[in-house]
Amino acid sequence: MGSRINRRGFVRAGTAASVSLAIGGKAEAAAPQVMQRSAATPVVVSSDNGNVYRNGGSQTAVEKSFQMMMGGSDVLDALVAGVNIVELDPLDTSVGYGGLPNADGVVQLDSSVMHGPKKRAGGVAALEGVRTPSLVAKAVLEQTDHHLLVGEGAQRFARNMGFAIEPDLNTERSRGRWLEWKRRTDPLHYLDPKSRSDAECRVRAEMVAEGLMDGRHQYGTINCDGVNAKGEICGVTTTSGLAWKIPGRVGDSPILGAGLYVNGEVGAAGSTGRGEANLFSLASYQIVENMRLGMHPKDAAIDVCRRIQKNTIEKRLLNDGGHPNFGLEFYVINARGQYAGVSLYEGQRFAVCTEQGARLEPMESLLSGKP
Ligand code: GLY
Repeated sequence: MGSRINRRGFVRAGTAASVSLAIGGKAEAAAPQVMQRSAATPVVVSSDNGNVYRNGGSQTAVEKSFQMMMGGSDVLDALVAGVNIVELDPLDTSVGYGGLPNADGVVQLDSSVMHGPKKRAGGVAALEGVRTPSLVAKAVLEQTDHHLLVGEGAQRFARNMGFAIEPDLNTERSRGRWLEWKRRTDPLHYLDPKSRSDAECRVRAEMVAEGLMDGRHQYGTINCDGVNAKGEICGVTTTSGLAWKIPGRVGDSPILGAGLYVNGEVGAAGSTGRGEANLFSLASYQIVENMRLGMHPKDAAIDVCRRIQKNTIEKRLLNDGGHPNFGLEFYVINARGQYAGVSLYEGQRFAVCTEQGARLEPMESLLSGKP
């Protein structure tokens, strides 16, 4: 997609969508097109990797999602097709294929999806062997009565749904980074939580400083949320989770209300960053609830960042200034198409795609400086 979305194309797409609705449904067909178009300003937002990685193609995740959405695709289908680009890109070490593995060197993936209009959700956690966990999460939404499948069961489900199961999702790059981490850490670290935590912090900081890890990819993840002109809202979050995690650790990404929450009448919020902090505060749910009570996306997320800061009292999680020593970012849209990217700390950017095209915008933040 070029840098600008063609407005005439948008109008045409709106017309095509209306026609297909008129053929397929009753109530929707009666809605005048002009009402549909004024319902919301279409937008897709995501973490910054959604407008960085292309996997050798011509489009980033937000460009692909926005284009499909404007062409009349289901919003969730469009968002998942977007994040698939990042999941399949071996250069993004935080998501899907080539994501940084767990402490045993195994890539375990988490994902969730929520569909606002259908009020349905699906998720997978600690899934091994499938490059695109977001598609498996969508299959959970579409094919089952459940909301979350984990581990071996999730993999068996994926196999039964026709997904190819691969023996190993490491790339040479992700395996090399894991070997380096293994070499540097104490193999007995499970026995002493204090020295384990200290050793891991030191090793992570060293590897980031030496350019072996992207600082933002310790927790990885892409979250992508969109609303179309009819005000239909969906979201998806997908991740390889915390690098070098204890096998079986599940972060916020697949947990409804934490890594993602969509209320079809109100808006969507999703996150990247330290999942444990998000899980404790169920931040995405709370952000959407704040919007339901009338807050703008930015204010809704800043309020929740304050809560997260208040909930962070353990010394090991605080920096010298007494503030959280980790990052957490939120991507938020409401049903009118207003949006915000909000992070605990300044200096972060997020991806946006509107009719004006795709771009990175600075995030609002609660705290100045660095974690
Ligand atoms: N936010 C990703 C994770 O903590 O796993």
